[in-house]
Amino acid sequence: MLKQEINELLTQTGPATPMGALFRQYWIPALLAEELSEDDCPQVRVKILSERCIAFRDSDGRYGLIDEFCAHRGVSLWFGRNEQSGLRCAYHGWKYDVTGQCIEVPSEPENSNFCAKVRLTSYPLVKVGAILWTYMGDPEKRPALPEFEFVHVPPEQTYTSKRWQESNWLQAFEGGIDSSHVSFLHSGGLRNDPLFKGAKGNEYNLADLKPFFEVAEADGGLFVAARRDAEDGSYYWRITPWVMPSFTLVPPRGDHPIHGHFWVPIDDRNCWVYTFDYHPVRALTAEEVQAMKDGHGVHSRNIPGTYRPQENKDNDYLMDREAQKRDEAFSGIRGIAMQDGSLQESMGPIVDRTRERLVSADVGIIKARHKLRKAAIALRDEGMTPPGVDPAHHRVRSAAIVLPKDDSFIELSREAVAASPGVRQTSV
Ligand code: FES
Ligand SMILES: [Fe+2]
Repeated sequence: MLKQEINELLTQTGPATPMGALFRQYWIPALLAEELSEDDCPQVRVKILSERCIAFRDSDGRYGLIDEFCAHRGVSLWFGRNEQSGLRCAYHGWKYDVTGQCIEVPSEPENSNFCAKVRLTSYPLVKVGAILWTYMGDPEKRPALPEFEFVHVPPEQTYTSKRWQESNWLQAFEGGIDSSHVSFLHSGGLRNDPLFKGAKGNEYNLADLKPFFEVAEADGGLFVAARRDAEDGSYYWRITPWVMPSFTLVPPRGDHPIHGHFWVPIDDRNCWVYTFDYHPVRALTAEEVQAMKDGHGVHSRNIPGTYRPQENKDNDYLMDREAQKRDEAFSGIRGIAMQDGSLQESMGPIVDRTRERLVSADVGIIKARHKLRKAAIALRDEGMTPPGVDPAHHRVRSAAIVLPKDDSFIELSREAVAASPGVRQTSV
């Protein structure tokens, strides 16, 4: 249970909110690189942390993320023309470059330098891996670029998608560090999903429905570990790293790629779920990539031309009661991504955390909330840089590992949870 004011503190990320300020300390995904696939391609509306922006790629391949609305009389630049190294407003032709600087006001005399005084808010937009990242904070404090392993392996070893989720970011993120729902909600996926099935670890997952949770501090966030019984004298551990503010990795299964998410607030009632898979030492197979595109593993199948899942709240997520009865899908919803998304949206756009009843299996969630709150307040009151800003904190991995019963998971898994280029993941 949380007090209402703490729930508000953690869920509000607009400008001038403590959590909004926290998110603005980091590079965060703004859009997929495929959305701006060539020079002078159509610009894209991007709402992020409750700010409405336009992303575009100019004639010279430079990326920009600028205020959506023209400085003249407030028209959306989405209607504008992306041409000759700038974005021209469709109303009276004012033109802006990727930094938001106005470079032409056609109605003004030739020798007027009026446009030099006009500049829209803008944020850097940088391609790292398959993602265009932005940093919306104080330019003086801009950190080095992200070093998450999934954006630095060769492109053939990774695949990224995204989906729109109609809920606050926090309840979406909390699902990412909550391993105890897997044995229930995703039990069908453990048996059938092409990107999950066949791993020895799945048997432990399905056999032990009462995982014990342990949480260890990490430089950038936490390691949330779920312990289940394995063979005599040993435990099966699934270790989920969280790097602040909202990057999580799912522990691997067998030789399947590692999956993970980046949960990015659009506004307080919607978020983007960036979903990726990567394998540290081999290319993804054509079958694996096709399965991801088809909405298997932790990816969604989206309505063509959009990032809205085909299973969405307007069609009751294509609920299949027969599949639920046959035990193919515990909740009757197809695919792991929308099994999660549907339930998290069902909580309402911002779940009322004053009414929840937490149990010991929720310890990861409790600690993550505490850490977020502490970091937001330390930033607000003391200007303290939060964990996860330093790119060295990004170099973590998830792991699935069987350890002797008497040993501490964190001591024995230090190498397994470090991202080491060219080294295979630790997985059962
Ligand atoms: S409103 Fe954009 S040029 Fe007039
Ligand atoms: Fe899930």
